[in-house]
Amino acid sequence: MQTNMNVWPSSFRIVLIALVSFSFVNCGSAGITSSFMRSEWPSIDIPLDNKVFEVPKGYNAPQQVHITQGDYDGKAVIISWVTREEPSPSKVQYGISEKQYKFSNEGTVTNYTFYKYDSGYIHHCLVDGLEYDTKYYYKIGEGDSARTFWFQTPPKINPDAPYTFGIIGDLGQTYNSLSTLEHYIQSGAQAVLFVGDLSYADRYENNDVGIRWDSWARFVEQSTAYQPWIWTVGNHEIEFFPEMGEVQPFRNYLYRYSTPFLAARSTSPLWYAIRRASAHVIVLSSYSPFVKYTPQWRWLRAELARVDREKTPWLIVLMHVPIYNSNVAHFMEGESMRSVYERWFVHYKVDLIFAGHVHAYERSYRISNIHYNVSSGDPYPVPDKSAPVYITVGDGGNQEGLAGRYRDPQPDYSAFREASYGHSTLEIMNRTHATYHWNRNDDGKKVEMDSFVLFNQYWAGNLQRRRLKKNHLKAPLDRKTGIATY
Ligand SMILES: *[C@@H]1O[C@H](CO)[C@@H](O)[C@H](O)[C@H]1NC(C)=O
Ligand SMILES: *[C@@H]1O[C@H](CO)[C@@H](O)[C@H](O)[C@H]1NC(C)=O
Ligand SMILES: *[C@@H]1O[C@H](CO)[C@@H](O)[C@H](O)[C@H]1NC(C)=O
Ligand SMILES: [Fe+2]
Repeated sequence: MQTNMNVWPSSFRIVLIALVSFSFVNCGSAGITSSFMRSEWPSIDIPLDNKVFEVPKGYNAPQQVHITQGDYDGKAVIISWVTREEPSPSKVQYGISEKQYKFSNEGTVTNYTFYKYDSGYIHHCLVDGLEYDTKYYYKIGEGDSARTFWFQTPPKINPDAPYTFGIIGDLGQTYNSLSTLEHYIQSGAQAVLFVGDLSYADRYENNDVGIRWDSWARFVEQSTAYQPWIWTVGNHEIEFFPEMGEVQPFRNYLYRYSTPFLAARSTSPLWYAIRRASAHVIVLSSYSPFVKYTPQWRWLRAELARVDREKTPWLIVLMHVPIYNSNVAHFMEGESMRSVYERWFVHYKVDLIFAGHVHAYERSYRISNIHYNVSSGDPYPVPDKSAPVYITVGDGGNQEGLAGRYRDPQPDYSAFREASYGHSTLEIMNRTHATYHWNRNDDGKKVEMDSFVLFNQYWAGNLQRRRLKKNHLKAPLDRKTGIATY
């Protein structure tokens, strides 16, 4: 047990001990619905003149700086930023000691109009060929307006490489969002798995949509300029606005946020994968075609076959719409994706599936619902040791407020649920062990609420079971299971 229980008030301790012991047991034990009531700060966006949205000083100064992984294995980053006055060179200077930028790379610049709002000049620059496990300093912009930042590359792909991810969803730009962001930064995690719904700019009209995309990117810069955020799209990125003449889905998002989809052999920036340290992270789009024979389906089938648990033991999937959710909000919206992909998630023994969308927190037991085939078979979830743990963290704190109503009684698959704001961290220790925490925002304080040690689905069994599994995974898939063969 890595959790330091002594720091929690004794009333929490009993709950936590119970949670820890339930987390590996499949159902049988009733799940917990937290009675915690958030004394909510208002769910309103922070006014634009607040300093969290401050535009950096100087002519054509780079703003909205954000980085993401730029390749499949973590030796590259994509650095993105916006300049307002002129296109200027999209140049990144970088190096391994402060103020000494030995290297430089040139990126690309684009601009577009959304309704009548001019985006400014959006720069994306791939910086590749980096060393693993190294701190890099980088400089963008020119003269007095230049700005400097740094980032740390991950360790080389290695089954025992420790690494800590943060998980954030549905963030928005309210005071609650700020509390989540500040708590996340204090966590010391090394990269963010972001499960969709970034700015909530689509809640505005006309030029204010673009203005709120800009303000959000300035708001999160204090984290996104220094560590990669791995992006997933949500429904608030779709922005289908015929009344404003904007009908191309994901337009603002796609201009502003890059993903390394080509390196993952994907044909769309909306679904892709990265490998980082000891994890293989697969990003799916809940709002792009995913049924059988679609590009996303074909890509996922191939990507799952490429996963090598001997190199990257931790298999994590990100999507926006949760597959198991017992909140009244968005209930059953994940059923369509569940019916197509759940078999694969079980077959490949995915460790964790993170989703957002529901503005609350929930964690499932290991369960699956893959036996029903319309004519026969049990049509409800049952305990399944090969199934992932499903975690919903749509609780970043956006202007739509909390999803406070859960279905009653709590379904057997639901292990813990609470309607309040927060973020999660996943601390991978080695190939067999990881520690997971969900941290509640309690009016400015960070409180660890749901916490457990997770055993790897591939490595944690005994050696013999592992050998069998390994051979099984390498064999062609069984036609009878309904899973396509390769
Ligand atoms: C993009 O920038 C160019 C050069 O400044 C400008 O002429 C053009 O109008 C801009 N395009 C859009 C779509 O804003
Ligand atoms: C559906 O389930 C029944 C009973 O388990 C089985 O006999 C049948 O082959 C299944 N059909 C398909 C298409 O999987
Ligand atoms: C992984 O870390 C845990 C906790 O520190 C330890 O008990 C376990 O033996 C380690 N496993 C391996 C394979 O090193
Ligand atoms: Fe959503």
